[in-house]
Amino acid sequence: MSPRATPTRTAVVVSVGGSVLVTGTGDEQYLRTLAALLRECGKAMPLAVTVGGGRTAREYIALGRSMGLTEVELDEIGIDVTRLHARLLAGTIGGPTPDRVPTSVREAVLELHRASPIIMGGTEPGHTTDGVAALIAVRLRAARVVNATDVDGVYDADPRTHPRARRLPALSWPDFRALVNRVATGSAGQNLPFDRLGAELLARAEIPLDIVRGRDLANLEAAIRGRPFDGSRIGS
Ligand code: UTP
Repeated sequence: MSPRATPTRTAVVVSVGGSVLVTGTGDEQYLRTLAALLRECGKAMPLAVTVGGGRTAREYIALGRSMGLTEVELDEIGIDVTRLHARLLAGTIGGPTPDRVPTSVREAVLELHRASPIIMGGTEPGHTTDGVAALIAVRLRAARVVNATDVDGVYDADPRTHPRARRLPALSWPDFRALVNRVATGSAGQNLPFDRLGAELLARAEIPLDIVRGRDLANLEAAIRGRPFDGSRIGS
């Protein structure tokens, strides 16, 4: 490679929603199969995975808010829950994943030189684990970020309340950012298609974002491996 050539983008970052990982239904089977999938994909590419806090985080945040905790304190509670989930997934994957969850983007990037996949939760207050996934992706100059979430893509209206809502297979960054900005208010425990910081970072770095249903493991694997998948792609 000549010194000026751009290195090939090979790393992939996956953001797994906490509400995908722990639902109360079939979690044991899902965790095992997801762990096996990530272990295999991690051999084929440098793979970084962030895990969210889901319902557990939202319940603790709601209780803390009613106790009068500050937004920063509530974010810290959320971060602790994401790390709990990361520990659960890392333990299910087993070695050579580290015994301690990385707590910063810097640690995650360093750890990825040693082992793949690496699994982590949140880092600091003010964003979600989607934001962490985007920060890692920018550092790694990743090929793509895959958001494994509880919906099967981005819709032109909320499919829970609009039965005629259409899934959008491809969106530009400006369209997606407008959508995120419409819904986001920035308070702890929000449920968004991808967080605002993450969308801004990926758009600026021109890293595509793929949104897939995380419980559909065949489709999740296709997105991670860069094959055609059912869902939504944001950016080219
Ligand atoms: P999540 O990443 O789980 O956010 O973080 P989420 O949007 O609720 O995602 P799902 O439902 O798991 O898919 C939970 C909360 O933890 C705090 C935020 O308050 C966030 O809403 N958090 C998380 C941080 O403050 N910083 C982080 O780096 C991560």
